[in-house]
Amino acid sequence: MSMLEIESLKRSFGGLVAVRNVTFNVNEGDFLGLIGPNGAGKTTLFNVISGVLRPSAGTVRFLGRDISGKPANQTVRQGLSRTFQAATIYPEASVIENAARGTLASSLTGLWGGFLSSKWRVAAEEKAFHVLDLFGLTRRAALKARELSYGEQRRLGVAIALASDPKLLMLDEPVAGLNPEEAAELASVLRRVKSERGVTMVMVEHHMRTVMGLCNRVVVLDHGTLIAEGTPAEVVSNPLVIEAYLGKEAVHA
Ligand SMILES: Nc1ncnc2c1ncn2[C@@H]1O[C@H](COP(=O)(O)OP(=O)(O)OP(=O)(O)O)[C@@H](O)[C@H]1O
Ligand SMILES: [Mg+2]
Repeated sequence: MSMLEIESLKRSFGGLVAVRNVTFNVNEGDFLGLIGPNGAGKTTLFNVISGVLRPSAGTVRFLGRDISGKPANQTVRQGLSRTFQAATIYPEASVIENAARGTLASSLTGLWGGFLSSKWRVAAEEKAFHVLDLFGLTRRAALKARELSYGEQRRLGVAIALASDPKLLMLDEPVAGLNPEEAAELASVLRRVKSERGVTMVMVEHHMRTVMGLCNRVVVLDHGTLIAEGTPAEVVSNPLVIEAYLGKEAVHA
C-alpha cells in the first residue's frame, strides 16, 4: 500500500525551480533513500512534503489524504514526522524534556504544553524515556541538551522526531558529521526502529554506505528532477546517476 504519494510536485524560489515535477510513492514498510548532489532539491522536497514549505504545484497525499500545503504541526499529528539537516534540539532543556516535547508534538495537547497536567507529563516522560533508551541516551536524560556531544545531539534529534510515534519518519542527513562508529551505531538503531516499530522511513543521505545498508529503494534527484528510482544497486550503476555525480564530491564512499 502507498503511504505517501507525491504527484507532479514543484517548488520554486523566485525564478529558481528547486523541485521540478517530481512523482514517486513511498510504500508502507519502505526505507526509501533520497539522494542527489548538493543543491539537488532534497531538503526542499522534504520541506514541501512535511508542510514546512508550500508546494508551487502538485500534490502530496499521506495515508490517502491530501496534505499539500498543510502546516507541519498538522502533518505530525497525522503521523508524519521529520528531522532537520541541522540538529534541532532545545539546547537549554534537559535531554528527557527534549524527548517529551517530541511525544507531545503528535497530540493536540502539544498546543497546551504550558498547561499540561502532571498526569500527561508523566505519560509523556515515560514514552520519552523509552525512546531515549532506544538511542542509548537514558544515562544522559538529566543533562541539558547542549551538554551532549555532537553525535549525541544528532541522535537526540532523531529521538525527538520518533517520540511523536510517527507512521512515517523522514530523516534529513541523520549521520552527517558523525564519525564512522557513530554512523554505524545510528544506522543500527534506525534498522531496529524500523523492524520493531514498523515505522516507514525516508532518508536523505550522502553517505552511500548508510544508504546501501538501510534502504530497500532509492530515488535520485538532480537539479530538482527525479532522474532515477530503483534498488540501491540499480541506482548506483545507473549511467544518469553516475553522470549527475561526476566530478562532484557529494558521494562519500
Ligand atoms: N529558502 C530558499 N530560498 C531560495 N532558494 C532556496 C531556498 N531553499 C533552497 N533553495 C535553493 O534550492 C536549491 C535546492 O536546495 P536544497 O537545499 O533543497 O538542496 P539539497 O539537495 O538539500 O542540497 P544539500 O545536499 O546541499 O543539502 C538550491 O539551489 C538552493 O540554493
Ligand atoms: Mg539538504
